[in-house]
Formats: sequence, structure tokens, C-alpha cells
Amino acid sequence: MNERSEEIVYSVNYITHTRDELIAHLKEAISSKRVEHILGVEKTAVELAAQYGENAEKASIAALLHDFAKERPDEEMRDLIISENMDLELLQFGNNIWHGPTGASLVQTRFGVTDEDILNAIRNHTVGAPEMRLLEKIIYVADYIEPGRHFPGVEEARRLAYTDLDAAVAYATEQTLRHLLEKRAKIYPKAIETYNKWVAGKVKGY
Ligand SMILES: [Fe+2]
Ligand SMILES: [Fe+2]
Repeated sequence: MNERSEEIVYSVNYITHTRDELIAHLKEAISSKRVEHILGVEKTAVELAAQYGENAEKASIAALLHDFAKERPDEEMRDLIISENMDLELLQFGNNIWHGPTGASLVQTRFGVTDEDILNAIRNHTVGAPEMRLLEKIIYVADYIEPGRHFPGVEEARRLAYTDLDAAVAYATEQTLRHLLEKRAKIYPKAIETYNKWVAGKVKGY
């Protein structure tokens, strides 16, 4: 059942929009460069869903909506973090971290998405989480390896993604943290929790 992303027909179980409507909406709200990235994440997520037995429709919806808050104004995101009682520690960071949790919240109100797997996949795609269900892992990894990504190590991440998804989660987590340390960037505590669960103390499988 190697479904291609363009061939997926949505039921009404997870969203009332068709896939084409959703993409048209993204094209209005989001820059074309990011839409290209989003479609790359969707293509990859649908492939991984087929490989690991996840629902392709859920993978497509989560992928298409994962960066929905990425270009929203900071002020709006700050208000949302406060009004939705999110972790206030978020306010010490910026959109790079916010757009996961705020995106999940926006997608719920704007598109009526209530499926917890889809919402968690969007919520946790930026820094991961100690516990991730299959769809969360797929979106986290697809975001890292989609065809538009070019950086040292991406080929290894792609190889791992299609052979051992958990190893790909660990690899992406370790590389991302390493990159942040090299830049001496501030690290959101949940990213460290993800690292502690998926990387620390594990035998290197790659
Ligand atoms: Fe993102
Ligand atoms: Fe993304």
C-alpha cells in the first residue's frame, strides 16, 4: 500500500477540508518556500507511514499542518501561550520553539482537528518528547529529512529513517542538540528531556 501523498483522499474523520483545500489554504497563509518544505515533509511522512503501518491520511494532515504557526507574529503567539495556559517557560524562547505547541492549538481552533495523534505530532515536532507515538516520530523525522533538507549527515538520517525509525529519532535529536551547543544557543528544557530519553546512555546504533 505504498500510497503517494498526491493520491490520498481524505475521509471526514480527521478534518473537513479536502487535501487540495488544505494546500490552497497553506499557499495563501504561508510563504511559497515553506509550502515547498511542508509538501516535502508530507511526501516523506506518507512514505514512512506506509513503511511503519501508520494511517497515511493522518500522516498527510499532520505534515501539511505541522508548520502552520511558523510565520505567525510573535505577539499573537505570546498571547496564545498565555491564554491557552501553555508552559510559561516558552516565553523565554522564540518562534522556533513556539510554533509546535502554538501550531497544535491553532490547528485545533482553525481546522477543527481533534485527533490527539495529529495534534501531538504537530505539538512535539520541534523538540520531540520523551514519549512519542508512531505518528509523532514520523513527523519529527520527516521534518528532519524531507527532500529539501541539505546538511552534513542528512543522508545518514534518511538511511536510518527507512531502516529503524527509533534510531532516526535518536540521530536527529543528537545532531540537533549538538548543533545548538555549537552555536551556544539556549536549549528548551524539553529538548533535553528528549535527549535524555532517546540518546543518553544508549548504545550508538548508527
Ligand atoms: Fe517546524
Ligand atoms: Fe517543518
